[in-house]
Amino acid sequence: MSNRTFTMIKPDAVKAGNIGNILQMINEAGFRIVAMKYTRMNQDQAGMFYEVHKERPFYGELTEFMSSGPIVAAILEKDNAVADFRKLIGATNPAEAEEGTIRKQYATSVGENAVHGSDSDENATIEGDFFFSKLERF
Ligand code: CMP
Repeated sequence: MSNRTFTMIKPDAVKAGNIGNILQMINEAGFRIVAMKYTRMNQDQAGMFYEVHKERPFYGELTEFMSSGPIVAAILEKDNAVADFRKLIGATNPAEAEEGTIRKQYATSVGENAVHGSDSDENATIEGDFFFSKLERF
């Protein structure tokens, strides 16, 4: 069990003005921000980030959406970070997300689902390394 995970506030939530509300939910759930940036991926970069989904039918839609506007990327720290953060964000499909989760409150569809959260310790490391150098972590 590692104590770090990686998240993105996705273009839909940024566009809707929900950065502040989502960061507040993250802070109130006890996560410490290790690294954070406001940035935008081009479609090639989004394709690299989501390489594991390359063969999925929604890959094109996913990379197009994730490069459609700016995002907030962050590394978060807390005991049991990966599992606890996935609990906080809720199910991928907001229709199945529990009350009180970020996706229940801010996601609109399975594609435009407000936030990303790493699904394993290994991917948390890979994803954090995609966006942040050692000098950008505190
Ligand atoms: P995320 O946690 O960022 O990881 C992969 C993403 O693929 C997921 O959130 C969803 O936003 C997206 N995704 C999963 N299933 C579908 C789907 N059926 N159609 C579009 N996007 C999807």
